[in-house]
Amino acid sequence: MPTIRAPASKKTATLLVAVKCRPLTEAERRHCRHIIQVIDKKNVVVLDPDLSKDYLDLIQNRTKERRYSFDHVFAPGCVNADVYKNISSTIAGVIQGLNATVFAYGSTGSGKTYTMVGTRNDPGLMVLSLHTIFDLIKNDESSDTFEVTCSYLEVYNEVIYDLLEKSSGHLELREDPQHGIIVAGLRSIKVQSADKILELLNLGNSRRKTESTEANATSSR
Ligand SMILES: Nc1ncnc2c1ncn2[C@@H]1O[C@H](COP(=O)(O)OP(=O)(O)OP(=O)(O)O)[C@@H](O)[C@H]1O
Ligand SMILES: [Mg+2]
Repeated sequence: MPTIRAPASKKTATLLVAVKCRPLTEAERRHCRHIIQVIDKKNVVVLDPDLSKDYLDLIQNRTKERRYSFDHVFAPGCVNADVYKNISSTIAGVIQGLNATVFAYGSTGSGKTYTMVGTRNDPGLMVLSLHTIFDLIKNDESSDTFEVTCSYLEVYNEVIYDLLEKSSGHLELREDPQHGIIVAGLRSIKVQSADKILELLNLGNSRRKTESTEANATSSR
């Protein structure tokens, strides 16, 4: 479920929240059913997980079914590029000096890594964003100069580690008078291409503390 923070025009910043429903995995299909129904491009209904009579008696026939609205809703058939279409203008703002944050939130196995990193056939938001940024820089006709740097950190058990450092110690959060909250000592590597960043991300991924969870064999937790 990516939460998309989009800097709008002028000085205001807007927060866009999108929900992405992934298809059930094969194992899930054997034991579960979808309880999220995508109604349209902005609305979902979360079905009551238990519609058995005993249960409805217990809650006096009141169903727990709920309808929720979001800025964007993506059904299980959507690919990452469909999500990206709705945030590409936010990403393009980066080369005009705007800040943009794309944040994925969800339980284990909900599809955060899939959405952000993706696969060769369904590249994720990070990959698509990097290509946009470097393409725009390459085609920029202004006199602006651009510097792209990459940092990659992990918060694990409330401790911050630098994933671009071979044996990272514990890093600290500090408040800098000029830059606000910073992670002191975090490496920031200058990069010239999307491929170089993806290489650094792969290197960082290999240093992540990962372990499978009951709901996700390829968990990044
Ligand atoms: N849109 C999708 N289409 C097909 N498979 C998907 C999709 N989204 C996620 N999956 C699959 O679902 C599983 C869980 O996804 P993923 O690893 O991205 O979860 P996660 O949110 O990163 O979990 P964790 O917090 O445990 O790291 C993976 O096997 C992934 O390939
Ligand atoms: Mg993950």
